[in-house]
Amino acid sequence: MELNSLDELEFATIRDWLFDKVGIALTSSKKALICSRLFKRVQTAGLDSYGAYFAQLVSDQFPEEAQVAINLLTTNETYFFREPKHFDMLSEIVEKAPRSSIFRVWSAACSTGEEVYSIAMTLAELQRVARAPKWEVRGSDVSTRVLEVAQGGHYGLERTESISPTMLKRYCLSGTGPYEGTLLIDRSLRDKTAFAQINLIEPLPHLIPFNVIFLRNVLIYFDPPVKRKIVTQLLDSLTPDGVLFVGMAETLNGLIDGLVTVGPGAYRRDRRG
Ligand SMILES: C[S@@+](CC[C@H](N)C(=O)[O-])C[C@H]1O[C@@H](n2cnc3c(N)ncnc32)[C@H](O)[C@@H]1O
Repeated sequence: MELNSLDELEFATIRDWLFDKVGIALTSSKKALICSRLFKRVQTAGLDSYGAYFAQLVSDQFPEEAQVAINLLTTNETYFFREPKHFDMLSEIVEKAPRSSIFRVWSAACSTGEEVYSIAMTLAELQRVARAPKWEVRGSDVSTRVLEVAQGGHYGLERTESISPTMLKRYCLSGTGPYEGTLLIDRSLRDKTAFAQINLIEPLPHLIPFNVIFLRNVLIYFDPPVKRKIVTQLLDSLTPDGVLFVGMAETLNGLIDGLVTVGPGAYRRDRRG
C-alpha cells in the first residue's frame, strides 16, 4: 500500500474539506504533514489510499471519523504563560474593573488549557490581595482531543516550567505514586473554569459578554475573509470596553475597522466612531 504522498486531487479534496469544516487554509507545503498525521487513520479504516479516506470524510457519513481527522489536522502548540506581556496587561485591566460584577474571560482557541489556567492563576493572584472582582474563565476549541486534556487540568511537569514557583505552590498539586512527574491544577481554579467545543467559523452560541477574549495564535491558520468573520463575531461577545488579545505576531490592523490598539496584540472597540 502506497501511503507516502498525496496526489493533486487528494490534496485539493482534503484542503477544501478542512476549509469548509474549520476554516483552516492548508497550502501544498503541508502535504507531507497531512500524510504523517492521517496515515494511521487510513490504515485503521482498512483503506488503501488517502483518496478513499477523504471520500469518507467528504460523504458526511462518518462524523466521528471527521472529528478525529479535525483533531489530527489542527495544530495545538501552547504553553503556560505564553507571551507573558498579555498576562501583565490582563492584571492591569482587572485592577480597573468594577468589583460589583463578575469579570469574565474567554480563551477562544484554548488548545490543551494552559492558556485558560494561566489566566485563572493571574486572576486568583489578584483576588487573593483583594485587587480583583469575582471571576470566571471559559475555554473553547474545535478539537475534542485538546478539550479533554484541558478539562482534566493534569499536565506533565515538563509542561509547567513557565509557571512561577509561587503559583506552582499555590495553584498546582504535585502528583505522587503513579502520578509522580505530573501536576494537577488545584480544584479552586478548575471550579471557576469551564470548557466547550466551539467552532469559530460557525455562528456563535448566545454568550454573556466577556471582559477579555484571548484569540491568540490561531488567526495565522485562516485567510483574511475568514479572519474577518471570526473577529467580527467575537467582538459581539465582548463588553463595550472589553479587550481582545491576538498573538503578539498577529495583527488586526488593515483587517477590521473600528478597533484601537491598546498594546501589542491587544485591541478595544473604538468608541469615538
Ligand atoms: C496553536 S493553538 C493556540 C493555543 C493558545 N491560544 C495559545 O496561544 O497558546 C491553536 C488552536 O486553535 C484551534 N482551532 C483551529 N481552528 C479552529 C476553529 N475553527 N474553531 C476553534 N478553534 C480552532 C486548534 O484546534 C488549536 O488548538
